[in-house]
Parts: sequence; C-alpha cells; structure tokens
Amino acid sequence: MQNPGHLPPALPPTHYLDNRIFTDPSIFREEQERLFSKVWQFVCHESELPNSGDFRTTQVAGKPLIVVRDESGSIRAFFNVCRHRAAEVVRSESGNARSFTCFYHHWNYGLDGSLRAVSKPEGYERACLDKAALGLVPVRTESVLGLVFTCLDPQAPALREYLGEILRPLQDPLGSVPMQVIHFHKAVVKTNWKLWQDNNSERYHSMLHAINRATQPWVLGKTSPMKLRLFPNGHSGYWSEGEAAVAYERGGYTNVTGGTLPGMRDNEMRVVNLFPDLMVNIRSNVVRIDRMIPIDEQHTMVEWRGLGVAGDDAETRELRLRHHNMFWGPAGRNLPEDLIAVESQYRAMRADAVRYSILAREEDLNPTDDANLRAYYQEWNRLMGRSASAPFEAHAQEVTL
Ligand code: FES
Ligand SMILES: [Fe+2]
Repeated sequence: MQNPGHLPPALPPTHYLDNRIFTDPSIFREEQERLFSKVWQFVCHESELPNSGDFRTTQVAGKPLIVVRDESGSIRAFFNVCRHRAAEVVRSESGNARSFTCFYHHWNYGLDGSLRAVSKPEGYERACLDKAALGLVPVRTESVLGLVFTCLDPQAPALREYLGEILRPLQDPLGSVPMQVIHFHKAVVKTNWKLWQDNNSERYHSMLHAINRATQPWVLGKTSPMKLRLFPNGHSGYWSEGEAAVAYERGGYTNVTGGTLPGMRDNEMRVVNLFPDLMVNIRSNVVRIDRMIPIDEQHTMVEWRGLGVAGDDAETRELRLRHHNMFWGPAGRNLPEDLIAVESQYRAMRADAVRYSILAREEDLNPTDDANLRAYYQEWNRLMGRSASAPFEAHAQEVTL
C-alpha cells in the first residue's frame, strides 16, 4: 500500500507544500541562482561600518562578499575574490583597513576596489597587464533606514522600489534617530533556510512559547487586534493599528517599558518579513533583525542583530538589552524554542515519511491565517519557475517544453 503520507492533501495547490523543496539539494542549488542571485538581500546595518575603511565579509547566493565604507564615506560591496587567482582577498569577518592586500601573492586593492599594485610588477610588463581592468568585481549596494542591502542582479529594480510600502512601518522606529547594533549572535541551525523564515512569519506557532501565551492575549484568543499585512514581492508584516499591547506583567516581567522608539507605542509589537530571508521584529524599544546565510539545503547560518538607539545613556541601553535578551537572546524564553522546533521539524521532514506541509488556514488576515506564507510561496514559485506544491512536476513540464 502506498504511504498515505505521500499523497497530496485534498486542498488547492496554494494551500500545501511538497516538503522536498526543503530537502532536495538540486532545489537548493537552483535557489542560489534563481532567487538569491536576483533579489535584494540585507547584509548589515550601517552602524557596523561607522568609519572609512570599516569592512565586513559575508556571503550572498553562496558568493563571498566584502562590504566596506570607502574613503568618501559611501558603502560599497565587491566579490571577495582576487582577480589574480581567485583567492579570498579578505579573510577576517570584520575590521578596518586602509586597503586590501590578498595574502596569496600580495596584489593590493583600494577601498574603492581598484587594483592599486601587484607584487613584482616587472614580470607583467611584456604581457601588458592592464591593472585598470582588474579591480575587485563590484556588487550593487543600497541602503534604506540604515539597513544595507546588496543585489547581484544588475537588472533588478532599485531597493526602495523592491521594498515599496513595507517600509512604512519601519520608517519611524528605524529612520528617525540613529540606530546601532547593540547585540549580535549567530549560529548554524540544522534546518533549511525557508523553515526559519516560515517560523519567523507564521503566528500559529506562537502557542509553542509559554511566554507568548502568557503575555500576548491574542495568541490563544479567536480574534486579534493584530493583523497580517500582505505586500507585493512576497513581503508581509504583522501589526496592529489599534491598541494591541504585550502584557509583560502576566509573564512576570517588570522594567521592560521605556525608551520607546519613535512611532511606536509602549509595549507594542511590529513584525516585518522581507522576501526571501529577513525579519525585522520590533518590541517598542528594541529591534531584532534575523538574516540568513544558507550553507546547504540542511544547514543555515542565522545572524541575529539587536538594535538600539546610538548614544543611549547606560540605563536605557541596559533596559533595551535586557528586554532583547529575555526573549531573543541565546538563553531567552522565545528564540531557543523556535530553534528546537525547526531542527526537530527538519530531522523528521528529511525522513520523507510525510511529504506535505499544510498552509490552509484562512482567517481574514487574523494573525494565525496562513495567507502570508501562501503569498511568500507564490513569489517563490514565480522566481523558481516551479510549484512549491509539486516542484518536480513543474520541472518536468519545463524540461519537455
Ligand atoms: S590570488 Fe590574490 S594575489 Fe594571487
Ligand atoms: Fe516563535
């Protein structure tokens, strides 16, 4: 008898996923090309590069990148790959440099990426090596509200156009006062990157968290002042236009209110999920940003940043950090439970005993509606040229065309 767990559910194809989109290595490789190479992706916050020469290295679509503030104060990005023989030019995660010297044969690049000098230059004279044509390969970079993004696709629309109206709920809290990264941690999570984005986007699982059940009255209630918000390009959000306040005292918390960010109410929550891999989660006085570097289909480096206001007095900074860490720190009462959930889910999913995930909740954009996940996977389908509910059928059709 066929395993009933391999039968698609009797639902519209928009309302379920084939779990092999999370486990198949060929789909992961295709995502790097068709998705991560095409869209804008957050790489860091401007406060992480305060001075000329400050740099960070990272990866986008599996390609190594340097992001640097140049001598004129602009932020630039380049492939972190030497034009000589393709070694990594910069091998540290972050730092400050006046120029970049490749460790292998000492070619030297300026902060603007230009190839300034080669070692033993006389050896290249006969071949007339053109240094001007051999600068580090530039990558598009643009910033909005202090968030630095890169995009590998020269044809992609400008960043603000790509993000559009989803910037509105971020404008006041992130764009009115200078913000600063006040907490950073990262971990390799044993799960597919999309499952972390799903966890960050769906509110149905809030009941997993004892602390959310206690402090967010809408988690177990039937209706909620919080609403899902859907935007073009797969972006979505979750916030209230009215009075949805986190009831911290019900979780036994005191001293979390104060230093409320511009445009936020005391004890307000606001979550923005940007396609494909970013979450900005604001709790009245502190911001959490999740960014992912997918390693392969089963391992994902997640970077977590906590943001506060630059120039806070010590007491307010302490308040923000305490608030951040009690929920979202490595030993907080929210984040570690999500990590356990997505790793457990992935272990079981890889067994392929149950092949489909169900996204069938329809609740008029109540927080536990799956509408935002459905919209996200519609965008995934569009970019991938596959259907997330039948990924191999779509591929077969494409190949036979
Ligand atoms: S690979 Fe960089 S100088 Fe040779
Ligand atoms: Fe969660």
